[in-house]
Amino acid sequence: MAKKKSGGDQFDLFYAQFYKERWPQLRESLVGPKSHVILKNPYHPLVLENVTSFHGHPNLFVGKEELPQPQGEDLFPYYFLDGASAYAPLALDISPGDKVLDLCAAPGGKSLIMAFALAGKGHLSANDKSENRRFRLQKVLRSYLPPEVYKETIRITGFDASSWCLFEKEAYDKILLDAPCSSERHVLDSPTHLLDWRPGRTKRLAANQWTMLASAWLVLRYGGRLVYSTCSLSPLENDGVVSKLVKKFGKEVVISRPEIPGGEATEWGTILLPDKSGHGPFYLSIMEKVNSSDDKS
Ligand SMILES: C[S@@+](CC[C@H](N)C(=O)[O-])C[C@H]1O[C@@H](n2cnc3c(N)ncnc32)[C@H](O)[C@@H]1O
Repeated sequence: MAKKKSGGDQFDLFYAQFYKERWPQLRESLVGPKSHVILKNPYHPLVLENVTSFHGHPNLFVGKEELPQPQGEDLFPYYFLDGASAYAPLALDISPGDKVLDLCAAPGGKSLIMAFALAGKGHLSANDKSENRRFRLQKVLRSYLPPEVYKETIRITGFDASSWCLFEKEAYDKILLDAPCSSERHVLDSPTHLLDWRPGRTKRLAANQWTMLASAWLVLRYGGRLVYSTCSLSPLENDGVVSKLVKKFGKEVVISRPEIPGGEATEWGTILLPDKSGHGPFYLSIMEKVNSSDDKS
């Protein structure tokens, strides 16, 4: 009788079918150290030394990680996040005054970038279904934003992202859907998760991500922008989900691709993989919602 394949073997077989001869080096890079960027709090007077700007962004830096600890009741001076994941909120191109929704926001690194971009004007709804993680999200936002800025611009909610469209439609200028995903780095980090891994996991997640993305699309205003992102390597959870949106909403969905150093173009987005870019994995797809009945061509 054929021996049943372990979770680890199924994992390797599944990803090798997409990444082919690249898979061994990619797998190796997933268990390597993560490279972080420093998000400087613009509301804190700290001046960072020995750092370089991260692609010209005023609040993001690369450099040594031994920074001074926050003192007393002060706002926290900086936050560390994976370099690749910073691209998702940056791709939204938020301006002060925008009405922004972060559908899966906890623990809040990307929400912080968005709140800083609003500069105290406009509105950010930071949502997360998990009560524990929402608690952390609130703590993060309160630790970095002056109380008056928090009060004026932030709302924390705990709804299911897939049913948001039942309550609001065409309501936001910018939406981030940083979806719960396979997170293969975490799977490889945990022997029990790897042992239990089955292809059904990524299929289930992709189905869940699709309901969230379809909902997010209905909540986005015409002329608005939505970024869909994951930290997964699975094409089912990345282009697979976006292609369903393109199929359902056709010409309404206009995809754009910014220049991202180390990024690799996929059919509907860009992926950063750690063996090539030193960051990630991180997939993002940037979508503008246009009124296709205005299209005279
Ligand atoms: C990838 S994490 C988000 C990371 C976050 N954007 C950040 O940068 O810190 C995905 C989040 O989605 C939340 N989540 C899972 N299912 C959800 C749902 N149906 N509706 C809303 N949030 C959900 C999880 O609790 C988790 O915090």
